[in-house]
Amino acid sequence: MSNPKKILVTGCAGFIGSNFIKQFKKKWPKTKIIGLDNFSTGRQDALDPSIIFYEGSILDETLLEKIFSKHKPEYVFHFAALPRVSYSIEHPRHTSEVNIIGTIALLEAAKNHNVKRLIYSSSSSVYGGAKKLPTKESENFPDPKSPYAVQKYIGEPFCKIFSELFGLDTVCLRYFNVFGPGQYGNSPYSTVISAWLESSYFPNQKKAFIEGAGNQSRDFCYIDNVVRANILAMQSKNNFKGEVFNIAHGNQITINEVKKLIEKYTNKKLMLEKRPSRLGDVTRTCADISKAKKFLGYQPVVDFDEGLRRTVVWFESRKR
Ligand SMILES: NC(=O)c1ccc[n+]([C@@H]2O[C@H](COP(=O)([O-])OP(=O)(O)OC[C@H]3O[C@@H](n4cnc5c(N)ncnc54)[C@H](O)[C@@H]3O)[C@@H](O)[C@H]2O)c1
Repeated sequence: MSNPKKILVTGCAGFIGSNFIKQFKKKWPKTKIIGLDNFSTGRQDALDPSIIFYEGSILDETLLEKIFSKHKPEYVFHFAALPRVSYSIEHPRHTSEVNIIGTIALLEAAKNHNVKRLIYSSSSSVYGGAKKLPTKESENFPDPKSPYAVQKYIGEPFCKIFSELFGLDTVCLRYFNVFGPGQYGNSPYSTVISAWLESSYFPNQKKAFIEGAGNQSRDFCYIDNVVRANILAMQSKNNFKGEVFNIAHGNQITINEVKKLIEKYTNKKLMLEKRPSRLGDVTRTCADISKAKKFLGYQPVVDFDEGLRRTVVWFESRKR
């Protein structure tokens, strides 16, 4: 593929958005990257100083119009969201505004300004505990179990509708439990690997816990694989029209095994408070990634073990 001239990255100060920019720049150093973020969960220090940055919300239509008419991005990578299940249960209206209306606002702006393709960050949470493992997109109809999962799901048919009605090409990537460097574990909504590593390296700031017996398993996906999937989705010659793809490793690992590996790589014992199982918690997730392999050429580039080692190295570096 020739050098993409301009791209827009929403959520560029967040975990996935900032990692995406770092790797995208290595591949296409001449591409102009425009970023948009309002720092609601993102961090100033994750911002790449070389991008053209707008501080503001995806809900601000005037700002969107300004960005799109001035820069005319060819591709839009839509990472911005309020992304935690428990936060969405506490704040269903506000998270719906950002995660649903914000996505529609972006689709509208992309359609009005002839964007070639919008790549939408969806989530495995849309399955709500898939009946069949490994989970295939075609065999498991979405059954969201939280406001966040509904919000992420609604973005998908909206992408499809914008493709069908207006010819804006869109593609939806359902990420499974992403982890890696740049994911801080200091918020009450942090994901398990980041929260446990945070408590291991910064025990005065973070107390971590384990829910239930730890037999629940997850298909954890290392960040580089998610970045790779986004790049492949941009490069593809297909016309996706809102097509949905699982993005994961395609393996599952139990929380207890994760604990053992963290202890091995950090050389420290994890002190976890025991808590009862979360009501309605999904016991196992494992993606079938054959569709992404076939149509995107996706293949995980970093496996779980190596990904965890790299994440530990990043936490170590924060101590210094
Ligand atoms: N991390 C995961 O495990 C995971 C799994 C599935 C899907 N996703 C999706 O991937 C995307 C990125 O997730 P992440 O883990 O990087 O989360 P993150 O919280 O680190 O990043 C989200 C970014 O969006 C920004 N943002 C929030 N509201 C905004 C608004 N109104 N306007 C502009 N910017 C706004 C935040 O400030 C933050 O920088 C999200 O869409 C999320 O739903 C993440």
